[in-house]
Amino acid sequence: MKTQVAIIGAGPSGLLLGQLLHKAGIDNIIIERQSPDYVLGRIRAGILEQITVDLLHEAGVGQRVASEGTVHHSIELVYKNTRHPIDVTGLTGGSVVTAYGQTEVTRDLMEARAAAGLTTIYSAANVSIHDFDGKTPTVKYEVDSQSKEISCDFIAGCDGFHGVCRASVPRDAIREYEKVYPFGWLGVLADVPPVSSHAIVYANHERGFALCSMRSLTRSRYYVQCPLDDKVEDWSDQRFWDELRLRLDPEMASRIITGPSIEKSIAPLRSFVAEPMRFGRLFLAGDAAHIVPPTGAKGLNLAASDVKYLANALTEHYIEHTDAGIDNYSQKALARVWRAERFSWWLTSLMHRFPDTEGFGQKVQEAELEYLVRSEAASRTLAENYVGLPLDFGQ
Ligand code: FAD
Ligand code: DHB
Repeated sequence: MKTQVAIIGAGPSGLLLGQLLHKAGIDNIIIERQSPDYVLGRIRAGILEQITVDLLHEAGVGQRVASEGTVHHSIELVYKNTRHPIDVTGLTGGSVVTAYGQTEVTRDLMEARAAAGLTTIYSAANVSIHDFDGKTPTVKYEVDSQSKEISCDFIAGCDGFHGVCRASVPRDAIREYEKVYPFGWLGVLADVPPVSSHAIVYANHERGFALCSMRSLTRSRYYVQCPLDDKVEDWSDQRFWDELRLRLDPEMASRIITGPSIEKSIAPLRSFVAEPMRFGRLFLAGDAAHIVPPTGAKGLNLAASDVKYLANALTEHYIEHTDAGIDNYSQKALARVWRAERFSWWLTSLMHRFPDTEGFGQKVQEAELEYLVRSEAASRTLAENYVGLPLDFGQ
């Protein structure tokens, strides 16, 4: 088989890139290790920046996020049993974020891809990439134990943190930056109305961080900070709801509606960046190149901005016959990546309890929270990062 762009991975990065390239008339094939049901079963992100929503419209899949997404104008910070609203829209001159699940984004993109008759190879085993430092890269894989090969002009590595693309780059051509946090997030999804449908709630409590989010007006997503070695089996639904209530202010705690969990998982927290994001005819995008801790909801949004830069660069290559975009891709994407890395690290540091924050660190964290909610300048800094910096910020 032959194509212009072979995309490895059918997560949000790969599917969105495929759709944007298709709109520009560029042929592409997606090769995914898992089945469609498995991909749709992963419960992850839920908060979309306007840039991401705009991209979904550009890709022709904006209808459902427009009608079913919930627009948020503020966030709420909770500490010392008190809630502090941050008027995100007021502080940013009108910007909003939208609560709409990654699962739904993925579903919309999958359906559009199927409707356009584009090729996606699911359940591909032993995917490997070759010759991306030459002129004719190839992708090899197996389906039903049969070996297959695709030759292409470019490979887009959209295969997440544990994918094959970053791992295929020679060690001396890549530099990795990493920070691992000493705790995880226990997440629960439940079909109950969210305690706050107009704002995400971030709580800093002596028992640890808690977050109240949502997927729709009838589906809630809640998280509590937990030790890294905790197991999901340690957490009955009852234990989770009790712990969540303890970490919120009493009024909000009294309004939590509980129900059976439909998903429960523990995610470790990590900051990670691989530089550069281009190696000859291989490009990395999304979690394949970088990870942020989930505090601040930047991961999916960063994946979307990488894809926007990459789709533009490839469109310029094929339509305008200039490689300036391709040559600038890594630098452009990384500039935005590091801004989101900084924000996610900062919000994680501000809102969690660290094993060593008994003394000085704890006092400084409290002082920063007090400053944040009392200073309009500090609140604005939080708000403008939360809604997402413009795609051309500092470019
Ligand atoms: P992935 O979603 O990981 O997709 C990669 C795809 O590649 C997968 O389908 C995988 O099966 C496939 N693949 C892997 N290896 C291979 C291979 N060898 N061959 C072929 N295919 C392969 N982000 C936000 O913006 N907002 C949030 O609110 C938010 N909350 C989060 C909450 C949690 C608990 C977690 C864990 C993450 C959250 N994120 C959030 C992050 C967000 O989910 C990720 O950044 C996003 O999934 C990245 O998309 P991706 O397509 O780059 O990677
Ligand atoms: C989610 C929402 C957030 O605002 C966040 O910071 C992290 C995760 C979520 O809905 O999954």
